Amino acid sequence: MALPQEFLMELKYRNDIESVLSPFIALKRRGSNLVGLCPFHNEKTPSFTVYPESGSYYCYGCGQGGDIITFTMKMENLDYIDAVRRLADKAGLRMPEDGKDDKEARLKKDIYECNSEAGRFFHQVLMSPQGKSGLDYFLGRGLSISTIKRFGLGFAPDDWHALENHLRSKGFSDYVISMADLTGKSEKKDKNGRNFTYDRFRNRIMFPIINIHGKVIGFSGRAMPGNEKQGGKYINTSDTPVYKKSHNMFALNFAKSDCSKQAILVEGNMDVIALHQAGFTTAVAALGTSFTEEQARLLARYTKEVVLTMDADSAGEKATDRAISILESVGVDIKVLRLPDCKDPDEFIKKHGNNKFQHLIDNAMTALEYKLVVAARGIDLTATDGKLKYLNKACEVLAALKDPIAVELYTGKLSAKYGVSKEQLQSIIKNAENKNYRFQTKRELQEITAPKLEKNPVNPQREQFKRAAAAEEAVISIMAKHPDMLEYIKSKIDVSDFLTDFNKKVFQRVCEILETGHSFDLVLLGDGFTPEQVAYITKLLTVNADVENAKQVLEDSISVILEEKNAAENPDVSSLDDAAWAEAMAKLSKEKKKNGPK
Ligand code: UTP
Ligand code: MN
Repeated sequence: MALPQEFLMELKYRNDIESVLSPFIALKRRGSNLVGLCPFHNEKTPSFTVYPESGSYYCYGCGQGGDIITFTMKMENLDYIDAVRRLADKAGLRMPEDGKDDKEARLKKDIYECNSEAGRFFHQVLMSPQGKSGLDYFLGRGLSISTIKRFGLGFAPDDWHALENHLRSKGFSDYVISMADLTGKSEKKDKNGRNFTYDRFRNRIMFPIINIHGKVIGFSGRAMPGNEKQGGKYINTSDTPVYKKSHNMFALNFAKSDCSKQAILVEGNMDVIALHQAGFTTAVAALGTSFTEEQARLLARYTKEVVLTMDADSAGEKATDRAISILESVGVDIKVLRLPDCKDPDEFIKKHGNNKFQHLIDNAMTALEYKLVVAARGIDLTATDGKLKYLNKACEVLAALKDPIAVELYTGKLSAKYGVSKEQLQSIIKNAENKNYRFQTKRELQEITAPKLEKNPVNPQREQFKRAAAAEEAVISIMAKHPDMLEYIKSKIDVSDFLTDFNKKVFQRVCEILETGHSFDLVLLGDGFTPEQVAYITKLLTVNADVENAKQVLEDSISVILEEKNAAENPDVSSLDDAAWAEAMAKLSKEKKKNGPK
């Protein structure tokens, strides 16, 4: 554990949980706790609970939980060490710089530099005779030299080792080059028994991916026209220590300063670049993934409204539907722009020019209007039963609205358009509202009552060893709350008595912390646990927080753990099915032969 416990505790005391969470959530006091609407999922009644006493939070709706560090990681899109750094900066604390984190920080720094050198290399090649085909391609698609320079576009030569050799000559180690995902490993080995490596990007035009801090974090490489079938139209950097594609947006580094009012979300890198060149400098794209919640939260930090401008095909429609529900859940306003007679924004701009595109933006549909259009998908509106079907669907859309004036307005519109009375529509809406309400309440109730622990993938063995796992968790939480019982617990059980691997790991870590003489605290868990795992631990500590008679519960739990371990090692033959029984008997007879008759 590289970060000293004293530092982590100091970090926690200087950043009280309320002050860390409150910029993102409106919290209300409830007893000694605070509650608010969960920032991680869409809900109408608050199930996000903050426990100031332990400095933790847990959402009973979606199962997210943890401490100031996990919250900062999730909310600000940072890994463990950067989240700690952010909190330290906020509190004016100096980061201790040694040990493992130092090593990790150095690797990251090396990868950034390696990426940056690779970007320079690709760009230089593009501008040299070797890159002529790439440059011709970009120019042919209407990009100017200054746009090419601004985006740092490049060309990867048609060569298995050009980049690798260049980076080696600049002093980058093979390890760093491969950790940056710039090379791949082949099955074949050289005479020293090492796998051959090769450049991942070959004969491709290259788009560097630059994060909001201006650092090159990865690349997207497009095949030359005609070669799209070989190795895929695009190859993208896989996740590396500095890059997670589902957490970043292409060109947000340029868009971020202009997009506070509105951003344009498109599908392709080329669309983004064409828009920027045309003066629409708020365009961004998801990086070859379907739009994710992390990307939505990242965008939400910079903009109030997103204009969805996906390709005009069925994939684009799907992407639009998905983006709408994700953006709604993070509270960003949405507009939907549909491209007439063109497949994507790049083509539209070229064909019709800037003013026409601006006009499309100004007249983009609201999310509601778009949903009403979607409701008509696949329905023949000229037929009577088609109209009926559509009106029912449209009423469902209206029933989900929060704004009664909008409902009133659109009911009027539909009534006038389809010749059905407003009252009639209102009664359909009422029905749908009731259904929604019942559905929503039922779901929230289910979420609150069905303990998430059971289904949690964090401890997949919990299903199999329910009784043991519950006892293990009780021991862990009692131990965390009553460090004075550590010696007693250790005299009765050992980590090898635990049946589920995850609880084993937690138990071990809690022991380590207590053995240094500290009381337990979530912030001391360190970076050996993912946010999901920390959430699970938070929940198990909260669930067991107020056991009365801890000593008795502890005794009982220890007995259960020992019993269950014994049962797992010596299965009860009477309850076995035929196959398992035969196996047990075979094992027994082998055992007997080995030991000889008594
Ligand atoms: P498109 O196929 O629409 O490509 O994919 P594009 O960017 O518009 O390129 P052109 O105009 O055909 O040259 C949209 C985005 O999806 C990702 C890329 O990020 C691309 O920009 N993608 C596409 C991949 O990651 N892999 C693929 O194989 C295809
Ligand atoms: Mn395109």
